[in-house]
Amino acid sequence: MADLYNIIMHRRSIRRYSEKQIEEDVLEKILEAGMYAPSAGGRQGVLFAVCQNKEMNERLGRIKRAHSRPRMADATHYVSKEQPSIADDATLTNAFYDAPTVITFFAPKNFLFSKEDCALAAENMMLVADANGVGSCYIGQGWTAFDDPYGQDVLKQWNIPGGYYAVMQLLLGYPRDGDAHPTAKPRKGDRIIRWK
Ligand SMILES: Cc1cc2nc3c(=O)[nH]c(=O)nc-3n(C[C@H](O)[C@H](O)[C@H](O)COP(=O)(O)O)c2cc1C
Repeated sequence: MADLYNIIMHRRSIRRYSEKQIEEDVLEKILEAGMYAPSAGGRQGVLFAVCQNKEMNERLGRIKRAHSRPRMADATHYVSKEQPSIADDATLTNAFYDAPTVITFFAPKNFLFSKEDCALAAENMMLVADANGVGSCYIGQGWTAFDDPYGQDVLKQWNIPGGYYAVMQLLLGYPRDGDAHPTAKPRKGDRIIRWK
C-alpha cells in the first residue's frame, strides 16, 4: 500500500523524453495493467494501438498540434512550468512531444462509457510506468491526430474497425537525463464534501 501511495504521489506528466526506447518487458507490464483496468459492464472494449515508428508518431503529433487550439498560458494560468505543454509554449509543434512510444486508445463511438474505460486503463498504465521509471503523459482528444489524409491512411494501416474512434493517446518514454522530476502543483482546497 505504501508503495502504491508513493507511486501515485510521484507520477507527473512528462513532456521531455530521452530518445531511448522503453524495454519490451516494461511495455508488456504497462499494457497488461491497461488490460486489467475496470471497464463498464466488463466489456473490455478498448483497443490499444502501440506505435513505436518515429516518423509516424512525429507526423501524427504534428497533425494533432495543428488541430489543437489550447487556451494559451498567461501569467495566472499555465499547465506546467517545468515540462511545458503545447498550451505553455507556442513553439512546440509536436503534440506528442517526441515520445518514443505513443499508444492510441480506440473505443466504440456509440458506447456511453468509452472515455471512462480509456481513462481508467490509462491511469493504471501511468502508475505502472512510473513504478518502472518510465515517464508518461495523457493526451486528450485523440481523434484530432488522424484528422487529415495521412492520419486516415494510418487508421487503415492499423486495421481499426469501423465504429471505433481514437479517444486519447498515452505517451511513454524515459525522462531526459538531467531533468528534475516535475513537482505537483499545490492542491486546490475545499473540494471534499463530507457528511456524517
Ligand atoms: C483528460 C486529460 C487530457 C489531457 N490532455 C493533455 C494534452 O492534450 N496535452 C498535454 O500535454 N497534457 C494533457 N493532459 C495532462 C494534464 O495537463 C496533466 O495531467 C495536468 O497538468 C496535471 O499534471 P500532472 O499530470 O503532472 O499531475 C491531460 C490530462 C487529462 C486528464
